[in-house]
Amino acid sequence: MSVIILAIESSCDDTSAAVLKDGLILSNITAGQKVHQDYGGVVPEVASRAHQINIVPTVDQALQKAGVTREDLTAIAFTRGPGLIGSLHVGVCFSKGMALALGIPMMEVHHLQAHVLAHFAEDPKPDFPFLCLTVSGGHTQIVKVSDPYTLEVLGSTIDDAAGEAFDKTGKLLGLDYPAGPLVDKLAKQGQPLYTFTEPKIEGLDFSFSGLKTSILYFLRKKLKENPDFVKENINHICCSVQDRIVSILLNKLKKAVLETGIKEVAIAGGVSANSGLRKAFTITGKQLGWRTYIPDFQYCTDNAGMIAVAGYFKYLKKDFAGHEVVATPRITD
Ligand code: KG4
Ligand code: ZN
Repeated sequence: MSVIILAIESSCDDTSAAVLKDGLILSNITAGQKVHQDYGGVVPEVASRAHQINIVPTVDQALQKAGVTREDLTAIAFTRGPGLIGSLHVGVCFSKGMALALGIPMMEVHHLQAHVLAHFAEDPKPDFPFLCLTVSGGHTQIVKVSDPYTLEVLGSTIDDAAGEAFDKTGKLLGLDYPAGPLVDKLAKQGQPLYTFTEPKIEGLDFSFSGLKTSILYFLRKKLKENPDFVKENINHICCSVQDRIVSILLNKLKKAVLETGIKEVAIAGGVSANSGLRKAFTITGKQLGWRTYIPDFQYCTDNAGMIAVAGYFKYLKKDFAGHEVVATPRITD
């Protein structure tokens, strides 16, 4: 008999629902929340309210597109954390209610692990063990994946995440939130004319807060000389910042490959949608003899498809959540 999983993702500002049948994604629908743009960042209370408005229509759309009914479902997977508590609550409560009503099991999913396991949504799939650079708005990690259930964090950011570095730079340049995709677009028309220093951080950890400060001082100085500096050079500024963020990420990834000897390497998370990172990662991989894996765009930023894949792995192990499960904004294990 077929296994049909409905998955729900609501950890930040995207309400997403997906349907997976026997390991294949049939639908992956995301309702974004433009409402945060006016505030220059995600407003948690506004996000939970928007999730409540979006969740039923998003789930209905995902079921419809997949051509399945609620009664066809075998199990429900949902994001337990990490994320914004009010946002997570909406997805967790909705999933619990639906699973109880249908009398089917639930799987709770770790959001960051799901970003990594998104690589199993489509071919080619990485072989185990592999390394994954997970770069999102809230996290930056290098993870060693020994099997779908054994993920070990080898290094992570000690301050800002890579996505935050993009978003905060964009804010300094007057771009709308989230600025990452806009910086990416503008960078394509610019040259890396300006140099920002690379932080010296031990081991496989990252730091991005110094970069933000050096960009701030750089802009202050340039704007004093020429008040139109940003307007006239925004493409070059974006290209220079992006280049530096990408080199910080790839230098640590190279170090991780050298230390572990693992040449099966992937990138994941919202920032893995960045064209500069995708290109530089592929070139680096070719030069150093890695096998590289880049997710399709729909599986980079937050989406329920990745929750469905991670949930399916748990389903295969019968690793079900009890009804006492609660949303967990910070997960330390
Ligand atoms: O994974 P994600 O959707 O949400 C979190 O789990 O945080 O990542 C969102 C982050 C934001 O910081 C956004 O600016 C960044 O991913 N992002 C990008 C691009 N697309 C999304 N950053 C740079 N270039 C992009 N093309
Ligand atoms: Zn994410």
